[in-house]
Amino acid sequence: MKITAKELRQKWLDFYKSKGHVDIGAVSLIGDGTTGVMFNVAGMQPLMPYLLGKPHPAGKRLCNVQGCMRTVDIDSVGDPSHFTFFEMMGNWSLGDYFKKEKTAWTFEILTDVFGLDKDKLCTTVFEGNDSAPRDDETAQLLISLGIKPEHVFYLPKEDNWWELEGTVGTPCGPDNEWFYPLDADKENPVFPDDYVEIGNDVYMQYKKLEQGYTPLENKNVDTGFGFDRMLLFLNGLHDAYKTDLFTEVIAELERASGKKYDDGGDAQRAMRIITDHTRTTVMLIGDKTGVLPSNTGAGYILRRIMRRAIRYCRQLDISSDVLQNVAKIYIEKVYDEAYPLLIEKEEYILDEIKKESDRFETMLVTGMKEFEKCVTGLARKNEFMAKSNSSYVPETVIGGKAAFRLYDTYGFPLELTEELAAEKGLTVDKVGFDEAFKEHQEKSRVLNKGEAKGGLESHSEMAVKYHTATHLLNAALKAVLSPDCNQKGSNITDERMRFDFNFERAMTPEEIKAVEDLVNQKIKEDIPVVYKEMTLEEARAEHFVGVFDSKYGEVVKTYSIGEFSKEMCGGPHVERTGVLGHFKIQKEQSSSAGVRRIKAILE
Ligand code: ALA
Repeated sequence: MKITAKELRQKWLDFYKSKGHVDIGAVSLIGDGTTGVMFNVAGMQPLMPYLLGKPHPAGKRLCNVQGCMRTVDIDSVGDPSHFTFFEMMGNWSLGDYFKKEKTAWTFEILTDVFGLDKDKLCTTVFEGNDSAPRDDETAQLLISLGIKPEHVFYLPKEDNWWELEGTVGTPCGPDNEWFYPLDADKENPVFPDDYVEIGNDVYMQYKKLEQGYTPLENKNVDTGFGFDRMLLFLNGLHDAYKTDLFTEVIAELERASGKKYDDGGDAQRAMRIITDHTRTTVMLIGDKTGVLPSNTGAGYILRRIMRRAIRYCRQLDISSDVLQNVAKIYIEKVYDEAYPLLIEKEEYILDEIKKESDRFETMLVTGMKEFEKCVTGLARKNEFMAKSNSSYVPETVIGGKAAFRLYDTYGFPLELTEELAAEKGLTVDKVGFDEAFKEHQEKSRVLNKGEAKGGLESHSEMAVKYHTATHLLNAALKAVLSPDCNQKGSNITDERMRFDFNFERAMTPEEIKAVEDLVNQKIKEDIPVVYKEMTLEEARAEHFVGVFDSKYGEVVKTYSIGEFSKEMCGGPHVERTGVLGHFKIQKEQSSSAGVRRIKAILE
């Protein structure tokens, strides 16, 4: 290694500190909601208010190395250059210095600190349009610093204007991009074919409006140089997974699988995916605003990433336990200095990775069989049809309902099914999936209305947990008090649950404790919550409880928690009881004649 990750980080920060900047450290990876962007996609994002004029407590010159996430790249991860998480080395002038200083400093750090050859550097500047003039000033400054005039190119807005996609009211402006030959030793490299972009200086002096731009009072500079890319490039490497950020992780994967990364092929691709996705997982769960895998929002992206990593462990024929080892390497050896919070949260992070792995690993096995069935079913149908009709065009689309089943019953994110399908030369009917999803939600809504009187419309993660808890409570009451205790109603918010049931007298403190203990025991057993559709008659025969009413129609949805709880219900529910936490009864009181009411919380 010519330069290690830790050295590069330090050099960037030291250089800008020597120019009067304050290192503000990395801030949360999660968007703060002001721009509607879920994750930070650029180092400037958390600085938005300050670029728009608000004074920053650390002053007008800032620098850091900031974690960023770009989810559009998930599917490309596996090749030698894509990541979902990466870092950006940044520095900012908030209404302080502008083009003269900035061009000089970028030139200095690239040539003096990183040793790049000024004669090989190429740069591009904005060619101008109706909104903003051509950036001759920057071009002149670059040439006066020693960049060859024929290495300064004027390009249009598509190339040399930086703004966050689709967000009005945000700062933006023309940028100056820096390029260097991918192969640094190549004689007479030609721009752009032989070159890669290494970073850019954005002259952020406009604010984006609904239509066009308005000048900002402050003229800012927003610099971003890709940390991982720079590391790769300064070491003369061509595979982004070969830098010292990943040496130990790849070694661990090689050890576990007995396969060699350098042998290439599917194993190499799987190792890259696990390497990238676990890093992102660590960063998301370990973030200040920690994310946990779930079925909505950022939690869903995390779940998608984690389950994709788990799937690739399977492809390598290794247990997903390896993900915890990999996470440990990142936390303890790679990002220990730059992200000290990870060390603090280490146990929690490893625990959450284990839980998601345990949740998905078993479902993955049965789900894969189900997926294979879809594929063979399609193949059989095509074969059969082709025999009787020579002009028959084979079907190559996996139905939306099947994809939804994989999602709902086996926890396959749609994107995972799509990826599996693509490997077989098939696609997935996404519209059909969305329809099945909506239909399911609608049915749950109707069922819940009937059953819980308006409890679950929001389907927040907490409400879903409480919903599963009502099933456990229902079963526990039957076990402790009497099999004749039946649910008479329930009401759920994100904070608590209320549960009404028939019983003739107040419960004793011992009975309350016994019910509580039984529910907690079932939580501790971490039992999978299994969903199944069946006819009403089958449900009755299998002793499912619920309202046996014609409104359920022919086929009913059922959820069982082992043999302990069996209810007809529209869902949704958690996948395993283990996620519920600790169940506590706060109150037991009379609700109406012969009906008792329990208020309980999950802590
Ligand atoms: N905001 C600029 C970028 O993301 C620096 O490239």
